[in-house]
Amino acid sequence: MINLIIDGKKIQVEAGTNLIDAAALADIHIPNLCYLKGMRGVGACRLCLVEIEGMKAPVIACTTKVKEGMNVTTETEKIREMRKFVIDLILSIHPLDCMTCTKAGVCTLQKYAYDFELQDSTFTRKKFGYPIDSVNPFIKRDPDYCILCGKCVRVCKEQGTNVIDFMGRGVGARVITAMDKPLQESECTFCGSCVDACPVNALLEADRWRKGREWEYTKINSVCLSCGNGCDITVSTKDGSIVKINVGAEDSSVERYICAIGRFGFDSITADSRITAPLKRIGNELKETTWDDALKIAAEKLKEAGKCAGIVSTGNILNQDAFVLGKLASQAVKTKNVDTTVSLYADEDSMKYSDSVDIDSADLIVAVGINPSQWERVLPALDAGIRKRVARGAKLIVINSNPPSPPFAKGGMGGLAAAAAVNIIGNEAKALEQIAKALKELAVSSQQSGSQLLLVSG
Ligand code: SF4
Ligand code: SF4
Ligand code: SF4
Ligand code: FES
Repeated sequence: MINLIIDGKKIQVEAGTNLIDAAALADIHIPNLCYLKGMRGVGACRLCLVEIEGMKAPVIACTTKVKEGMNVTTETEKIREMRKFVIDLILSIHPLDCMTCTKAGVCTLQKYAYDFELQDSTFTRKKFGYPIDSVNPFIKRDPDYCILCGKCVRVCKEQGTNVIDFMGRGVGARVITAMDKPLQESECTFCGSCVDACPVNALLEADRWRKGREWEYTKINSVCLSCGNGCDITVSTKDGSIVKINVGAEDSSVERYICAIGRFGFDSITADSRITAPLKRIGNELKETTWDDALKIAAEKLKEAGKCAGIVSTGNILNQDAFVLGKLASQAVKTKNVDTTVSLYADEDSMKYSDSVDIDSADLIVAVGINPSQWERVLPALDAGIRKRVARGAKLIVINSNPPSPPFAKGGMGGLAAAAAVNIIGNEAKALEQIAKALKELAVSSQQSGSQLLLVSG
């Protein structure tokens, strides 16, 4: 652990922590626009300048790591003036529509303009009038609001989708897709990670206009049940209806990922095709009935069947619900015949010895018999998580008996195999056996090397 002083507060943080995160641990906010928690600082906006005792010029906090005995000052008159200058410049190229802007109240630029008492820019204002990309039903891109922080570009790149980038230089730069096409004509998966990362109104859920202000929403932490990944989500509701779903992580962080279905698929809850009441078969027809009646019938049938009853659940239920289901089967119905659709993909023994995966601390990831993909919607969050870790230096080995699916051939878009340092195509069990043998011969173990090995199998 490293001991340092920030604004007179003595703190202890892990080696490798940057000054923005270190200060946050001491409840000190260092203004920043281009820093994204969980990613390496890039020092683009220069808002996070701080002074360090013994150093002549201010340094950038997002790219400076803590050092033993450091004495940091985050706020001086000189630094405040420098930060105010940055915000002043940004405001000169910004629409300043805060009165009706959907982002008002949660906008980082608005917050800093308020903090630095800037009602407007002192520079000549410039209007760009870029076209808005709003043809797709999910994400609206309004480049006129973009403050060029680059968070969207980096988040998209690190998770392996990599469909947006900067074009041009200076204030005339723009975030575009390949050939400057609308999002739906690019390789975008509509995961919306860029929307979560954007600090202003440049990227927004498409149908948010006049659906309430951010502070009017009730926020509920929940879990997405649309696939076996079970991602953490935050559901925002207003007047009893869902307005939007975001990643269930700290605001403005890229610690998690959710896919397009988890983020935008909530209209299925109110879809006309949804069965909202229990149905009872009478003759050849299904007729609506009450919950009391339906539960009574189900209880009677289960009682009648007793130990001959079989209960099959979807694999997409929470652990708590699976626990209750197990209890219902063993203690109330008294049957041992309980199964889930998970066993379609894994046998019981493989589940017994598995543990939840911690991708974020793995140095070597071995994916066996599994080919997650954001594009083909096979465990998309696992695909994004592994790609992010690989982008931060972890090595990936993919072992599959089948060659990677066709998108691999499209030059990296699709199967995880595209991001692997080593691809082994062949019998998975044999390949693992040979790797284990080789490791034994080399007498190498992850404990000896101090590295974390993560094995993900299908
Ligand atoms: S993005 Fe922020 S600063 Fe810009 S108009 Fe909206 S609330 Fe105001
Ligand atoms: S929605 Fe996802 S894939 Fe599309 S540009 Fe944004 S981060 Fe990239
Ligand atoms: S679109 Fe948003 S996240 Fe992307 S560079 Fe512009 S302001 Fe930053
Ligand atoms: S947050 Fe450090 S330079 Fe932008």
